[in-house]
Amino acid sequence: MLQLTDADVAALLEKVDVVGTVREVFLAHAAGRTVLPEESCLRWTNDEGESCRSLNMPGLVEIDGRRIAGTKIINASLGNPDRGLARAGGLILLFDLTTARPVCALDAAHISAGRTAAVSVLATELLWAAPARTVAVVGAGALAEAHLNLALRRWSSVRRVRIHDRVPERAARLAERLGDTYRTVAFDVAADAEQAVREAELIIPVTTTTSGYIAADWIAEGAVAVNVSLDDLTPDALAAADQVVVDDWSLVAADTTRILGRMHRAGDVLPPPRHRTPDAPDAPDHRGSPDGPRKRPAVEVTAELCDLVGGTTAGRTSATDRIVVNPFGMSLHDVAVAGRIYQEFLK
Ligand SMILES: NC(=O)c1ccc[n+]([C@@H]2O[C@H](COP(=O)([O-])OP(=O)(O)OC[C@H]3O[C@@H](n4cnc5c(N)ncnc54)[C@H](O)[C@@H]3O)[C@@H](O)[C@H]2O)c1
Repeated sequence: MLQLTDADVAALLEKVDVVGTVREVFLAHAAGRTVLPEESCLRWTNDEGESCRSLNMPGLVEIDGRRIAGTKIINASLGNPDRGLARAGGLILLFDLTTARPVCALDAAHISAGRTAAVSVLATELLWAAPARTVAVVGAGALAEAHLNLALRRWSSVRRVRIHDRVPERAARLAERLGDTYRTVAFDVAADAEQAVREAELIIPVTTTTSGYIAADWIAEGAVAVNVSLDDLTPDALAAADQVVVDDWSLVAADTTRILGRMHRAGDVLPPPRHRTPDAPDAPDHRGSPDGPRKRPAVEVTAELCDLVGGTTAGRTSATDRIVVNPFGMSLHDVAVAGRIYQEFLK
């Protein structure tokens, strides 16, 4: 089995159009050319009392007329940054379609961060009122850097980036590094998350929090908030959004830990139109129990990203809409990007 290291992957990734690949995967998903099982998650607490987890995310996608199958195993320990290690790391295995045997193992860090940033950038471009000038990032780790590098290379519109991290030195170091590269952009280190988020046209939380802190009234009219770390927005902020867009409803609905999945279980989320059934307890016209009518869910998921990419859903309807994107994270993107890297290696 071929093994590609972090350095191999980083070099080959330069030759892959990651945003384009992610886009093609959404189109394949909309057309039913994918297999996307639920992910599995092993969680434990290590001897230092730190939370650890291992996610296993299999998937199969057909793009360019050929199928790519594999899985991403991505592990993380919250204590790793204090050990001088990246919090998360893992590998992607690609499978031979005929024999089912693994043929290639790729270090996952760059692919995982790159595809996540590409989904955020693609979703933002589909949903923003106008190209963003002010961007807020909360959390200054690997995902923040991947997002800002991709966004700033693509968007000449950005004038100001506000970064907040609960460890201020991390925000300062990231601002300094990016400031050296992107000289036309002002990088501010914000003293708190509210200062970073208020008035930003694009808000990207990339923290490790498990409890919401971004309040509804922090989000400006017309803004897009891409809820990458999945737990940063309060239930009120989700409920106040004019639109909530997810990457894949089945993954969000199956999840028991993140805020949107938990709200769904409590009957507080109306699924995207394609997944609604008239007699489902969360349907808007459901008659409820004998005790009386059920309340309308607080949050309405208006679309999945594949609908927006495929043009079957309109997206933004007004320049003042506040739009939340909740990208749970799809293995299909990791597997497709890994497949393209493998093809580049074989050239
Ligand atoms: N949705 C997806 O597809 C997807 C994919 C990959 C990673 N993620 C998530 O993105 C997040 C960031 O990943 P990373 O690799 O950059 O992590 P990281 O550990 O490298 O960085 C996280 C940073 O956030 C800061 N932070 C944590 N809680 C904070 C808070 N409440 N306020 C301000 N700062 C805070 C930390 O100090 C750290 O600097 C993780 O939660 C990860 O699970 C999501």
